[in-house]
Amino acid sequence: MKIGIFDSGIGGLSLLKEYRKEYPKNEYLYFGDNIHAPFGEKTKEELLTYAKRAIAFFEQKQVDKIVFACGTISSTIFGELKASVPIFSILEPTIQKLNQQEKKNLVLLATENTVKSTYFDQHLSFLSLQKIACSSFVPLLEKREKENLEQEIQKYCLKINQEKCDTVILGCTHYSFLKEKIKEHLKPEIEVVDLAEEFVKVHPLQESKEGFTLYFSKINQELKENIEDILGENSTKKLHLFD
Ligand code: DGL
Repeated sequence: MKIGIFDSGIGGLSLLKEYRKEYPKNEYLYFGDNIHAPFGEKTKEELLTYAKRAIAFFEQKQVDKIVFACGTISSTIFGELKASVPIFSILEPTIQKLNQQEKKNLVLLATENTVKSTYFDQHLSFLSLQKIACSSFVPLLEKREKENLEQEIQKYCLKINQEKCDTVILGCTHYSFLKEKIKEHLKPEIEVVDLAEEFVKVHPLQESKEGFTLYFSKINQELKENIEDILGENSTKKLHLFD
C-alpha cells in the first residue's frame, strides 16, 4: 500500500517513523511543505491552498491513501477537503482513545490555530480540557535550537505541574520529538499522549513494496540533520525538492 503523509515540515516524520517501525516493508511518500511552515498561525485560506496542493501531488503520485499528519490541518479545515483516494486526520484515533479512558483532566499542547479551533472541545466528552499554545516549539525544532527548546519545555511543564492534570496531549505532530524531554519535566503520574503512536495503533497497513521517499518544499542543512536524526543515517538520500 502506497501511503502519502503530509505536514508543514518534519512533524509528520513522527508518523513515518512510527509506521516504519511497525510496517518496514510498506511504501511511503512524505511531503513536508516547510517553505510555508509554521502552519500554526496561517489563515484558513492559506491552509486550504497548501492542503489542496498536497492532495493534487499525492493523487498524481498515485498513492492509495493520504494522512494529514498535522494537528493544525486536522483540527481546522480537514472537513472541507476532498480527494479521489481516502484521506485521514491524524487526530481521530487520539480523540477515540481519550473518550474511552478513565482520566479526566487533560491539557492540550498545540499550535495557535489548533488551540483557537473548537475541535477538541467539540469532540471530547465529559473531560476537563485546558489548551496551551506552544508557538515557539515548531520554529525551534525546525531550526534545531536545542537549548532554547529545553528552556521552553521547562516553562510549559512547570505550568502544567501546577495544574490539576492527569493527561497531556501532544496535539501537534512536531511535539512527538519532544515527548521524552516533556516527560522528564512533568510529574511522573501524568500520561503523555502522542498523535502518531495512536494513529498507527488503529490504522494497520497491508505491506507491499518497501521504501520511502521524502519531498520538502525547502531544503537546507538543518532539515538534512533533522531527517538523519529522525530516520537514521543515509535517509537524506531519499530527499527531493518539491517545486
Ligand atoms: N506539525 C503540525 C501540527 O501538527 C504543524 C505545525 C506548524 O507548522 O505550526 O500542527
